[in-house]
Amino acid sequence: MAQAWSWSTAWRTGVCVLWAGSVAWAQSPPPAPPPGLDPVVFHRTIEPIFLARRDGLQTCGTCHMGKVGTRFRLVPLPDGATAWSEADSAKNLAALTPLLTPGDPLASRLLTHPLDRGAGGDPFHGGGKHWTSQTDPEWQALASWVRGAAATAARAPSADGLAVRVIQTNAAGEGAHLIDPATNTVVGVLRGVDIPHGVVASPDGARLYITNERHTTLDVIDAATLRVTSSIKLSGRPNNVTITKDGRKLYVGIAQAPGALDVIDTVALTNVKSIPVKGAIHNVYVTPDGRYAVAGSIPQRAISVVDTSTDAVVKTIDESAGIRPMAFTTNRDGSTKDIITQLSDFHGFAVVDFATGKETARVEHPAIPGEHPHTDGLQGAPAHGLWVSPDGTRLWSTSKVYGYAYVHSLPDLKEVGRVYVGQHPEWVTATPDGAFVYIAAAGDNQVFVVEAATLKVVARIPVGQVPKRNATARLRVSAKQ
Ligand code: HEC
Repeated sequence: MAQAWSWSTAWRTGVCVLWAGSVAWAQSPPPAPPPGLDPVVFHRTIEPIFLARRDGLQTCGTCHMGKVGTRFRLVPLPDGATAWSEADSAKNLAALTPLLTPGDPLASRLLTHPLDRGAGGDPFHGGGKHWTSQTDPEWQALASWVRGAAATAARAPSADGLAVRVIQTNAAGEGAHLIDPATNTVVGVLRGVDIPHGVVASPDGARLYITNERHTTLDVIDAATLRVTSSIKLSGRPNNVTITKDGRKLYVGIAQAPGALDVIDTVALTNVKSIPVKGAIHNVYVTPDGRYAVAGSIPQRAISVVDTSTDAVVKTIDESAGIRPMAFTTNRDGSTKDIITQLSDFHGFAVVDFATGKETARVEHPAIPGEHPHTDGLQGAPAHGLWVSPDGTRLWSTSKVYGYAYVHSLPDLKEVGRVYVGQHPEWVTATPDGAFVYIAAAGDNQVFVVEAATLKVVARIPVGQVPKRNATARLRVSAKQ
């Protein structure tokens, strides 16, 4: 065995491949990773899949650590080891290269061989079918790694220990699922918050704040342990919550009549006051410049604007219908230009000039040919999810009636595309760069991930029951996350 060991040699030599392979591994330096496939994601997220048990099946490693004469050959793990060393991981990855097509999961034999034929997989795999559908979280993790490796580095944990997470609350269950957008897999599950409504993170990434409808509290969660560390009593049943830029104050929308904004001091962790506003509050947001808290009322059809430096109501804007989700566009100097709002019983959105409080446009989403409209369970909100891209050129609005997100250009409000995003789509969030958009499909118990540039769904991530509100944050995560 003087010449470098190769997979084709091993394939041809049959029975002695394990021995031959081990010798060669011991002698050669770790190979360079193939271009386009992130070795860190491979080591952290993909390799554990090879060692994971699935019902009625052996692990990939049981057969592919040297016992089967195929090109999928993993370095044998030393006794008692539960993960490969980084050097062996590099060898595993190099060996897999002929079975992967970077950018194209369905042209990658590693992904199609153990996938059911009916779900797009190969007709036969000697080790059985491990994934019944492309929505299987493991398959999704493999697919996004094969597809999205180029963008990974920017979205992985940075030197300051903060990592981008998409937080998806589960409105009919408890708590939230935390998604790592680098791999599009669930990396943490938060329990113990009953009927969660809104979620925000502290700017330092140390905490999450979630409104708890069942217990009428604002629950404080340690981001690293995902444990509830305190619960602050609110003046009434809450809906959504927002946070000031400096992280010192939270405003909680009280959805119980007469309605209010409760102000929570995040240092003392106390409910310091209730600001009377016009009507019971559904959603509340701090404007992009941080100067105002903007609260919408469904029963009173009004928007109350509160100055965040004085906590005084400075303006009330009346609308013709209940105020549902809102989003904001900005002027060149960062100040707020328009409030974009979805309205009760309106399948679209309205644009309200922030300075004058006057509605300047209303856009109704057209029917989608061939799609059956759903009108059951809309709860008065046929459209209930809005998002403005970070560059301010796109507005996304979701439709529960058709299951689509409609994408409009800003400021001219022309529809530029639409994409199917599941049953009963709700809130919208995105990676900080706006490249990938995450939409809660409340009727599918999944989060749809759409590539903004192509409007292609790149992943569907199973989460808890009836996912609605979501958020993106940079969190201080624990090592295991
Ligand atoms: C029970 C043993 C067994 C298990 C478990 C198993 N395989 Fe296999 N695998 C085989 C056999 C046997 C072959 C060769 C026959 C074939 O191509 O199906 C094979 C072939 C393959 C191939 C094709 C390799 C080539 O040279 O083209 C891939 C890819 C593969 N397996 C991936 C996996 C993955 C991924 C898992 C775990 C999710 C897995 N296998 C689990 C036995 C197994």
